[in-house]
Amino acid sequence: MNLEGLLEVAVRAAQAAGHIQREWLRKDKRIELKGAINLVTEVDRRCEARIVEIIKEAFPQHNILTEETPMTDEFPSPFRWIVDPLDGTTNYAHGYPCFCTSIALELEGKIVLGAVYDPLLDELFTAQLGKGAFLNNERISVSATERLTNALICTGFPYDLRESPENNLDHFNRFIMEARAIRRDGSAALDLCYVAAGRFDGFWELKLYPWDVAVGKLIIEEAGGKGTDFRGKALDVNGKETLASNGKIHEEMIRVLQKGS
Ligand code: IPD
Ligand code: CA
Ligand code: CA
Repeated sequence: MNLEGLLEVAVRAAQAAGHIQREWLRKDKRIELKGAINLVTEVDRRCEARIVEIIKEAFPQHNILTEETPMTDEFPSPFRWIVDPLDGTTNYAHGYPCFCTSIALELEGKIVLGAVYDPLLDELFTAQLGKGAFLNNERISVSATERLTNALICTGFPYDLRESPENNLDHFNRFIMEARAIRRDGSAALDLCYVAAGRFDGFWELKLYPWDVAVGKLIIEEAGGKGTDFRGKALDVNGKETLASNGKIHEEMIRVLQKGS
């Protein structure tokens, strides 16, 4: 099946959202709390509305799952778009320059293409099932780092960390002693693309949502890396655990995640 036309729509929608994000970055914007530390801004909603408009205009019968207005399976279609209109909202609200838009397309339950766009660096990550992973149209691949001790890895913390004991602090404490360094960048979709591009050697996080992980799962695999849960089972975008790596340090990362459990 030729998915080029569909990828083109994903890219167009992600770039349109990026344009809105750039335009609003330094403006006053409405910011609301979805939880104790979970923000949503009017820019998240503006981006979402524009993305949905672009997808619906091109494919009125496709289903769309988006973060801010979850509505899905309206139509008996095998196609479902999975959209994070602004990944890295906390960064965005504080003016910290690390955020993106993530748009994936699922066909009969399988992610077949995706685009992640970082409007500040003008970096567009794309992937199509079986056709490789790309950054601004140039092929990318995961790093060659063999050992965790030489690895730069990345993670994030769930919004319920104040209430839930499953807050990732135990894993973080162990990894900080075993990896070369850890980053917490605040945009899971970009973090996963950075693993695909070889900038990070690995990434783990708990309690992500399909819109955070969908493009990441595909792009990591297309870039020659590996995505699983914390025990090594194939990565499920609806699951609670996300582990992605260059493949070479995967077993070491699983070992660290299993310690103490
Ligand atoms: C969040 C970011 C963050 C991750 C959170 C996500 P949002 O998404 O990806 O890096 O740690 O778990 O929910 O709320 O900015 O779209
Ligand atoms: Ca997100
Ligand atoms: Ca978001």
